[in-house]
Amino acid sequence: MPSPYICRACTAAARRQPTSRTAVTTSTRAIRSAARSKRAASIAPTTRGSAAADAKRSASTITTPANPSDPGPPPPTSKPVAKMTPEQRAFLASALRVNHAGELAATVILKSQTPPLVTTHPNLRPLMSHMLDQESSHFATFNGLLAKHRIRPSALYPVWSAAAGILGWSTGLLGKEASMACTEAVETEIGEHYNSQLRELVKWDQEARERGEELDPELRELMGEVRRIRDEELEHLDHAVEGGAKMARPYEVLTGVVRGGCRGAIWIAQKV
Ligand SMILES: [Fe+2]
Ligand SMILES: [Fe+2]
Repeated sequence: MPSPYICRACTAAARRQPTSRTAVTTSTRAIRSAARSKRAASIAPTTRGSAAADAKRSASTITTPANPSDPGPPPPTSKPVAKMTPEQRAFLASALRVNHAGELAATVILKSQTPPLVTTHPNLRPLMSHMLDQESSHFATFNGLLAKHRIRPSALYPVWSAAAGILGWSTGLLGKEASMACTEAVETEIGEHYNSQLRELVKWDQEARERGEELDPELRELMGEVRRIRDEELEHLDHAVEGGAKMARPYEVLTGVVRGGCRGAIWIAQKV
């Protein structure tokens, strides 16, 4: 259950006017806008109506419905189920493996960041706890899916764990802004990573429907879980920016190193 702190933060974010954060990168802005469009519609009428609508239009093929009343993708029907192709089986294995490794890293980063961070900023304890609860839930989801499909975890599991621990602990020691910049960088890359998976799954879903078939239920399940988790990652990204990520110094160097590291880790974990 979200803490009152998070509810207030989310509500405040939805009610604020768009800012002119010139330092926000294009990709960061795009995926943050997609998250805002969902929350703005589900939390309260806001002054961000046009920005949210733009974000929804720009990401209409891959985002979750912006309004809870929107039914989203059609439910399964009595149509024949498309047999999973070898390409799709390979995609499923690779996606589950890399997502599992990424969520492991996210939980370790937050666990390592929290002690030094809340020592100097005890007011951040509810936020850190909230994000860790969600990351732990994401990790458990992919743990379960790996076991269900009998797919092995990344062979570099210990490496990801150690690297994430060092990253979380060091940015926690550097302070609040550095910790938030780390979270912003990680969530930016993770958001883009999940969006790229969704684009592929949505394409296969559309192709199956055009043939009068249903996408394989295992791929539909993955699509639903990735959508849900992607949206929570983008909320973390917003919390990080609102928590002062842009104030970190040197911001560009810190976020550049973390984002580059994330991209490299994703590339490797997809294969190993
Ligand atoms: Fe996560
Ligand atoms: Fe996250």
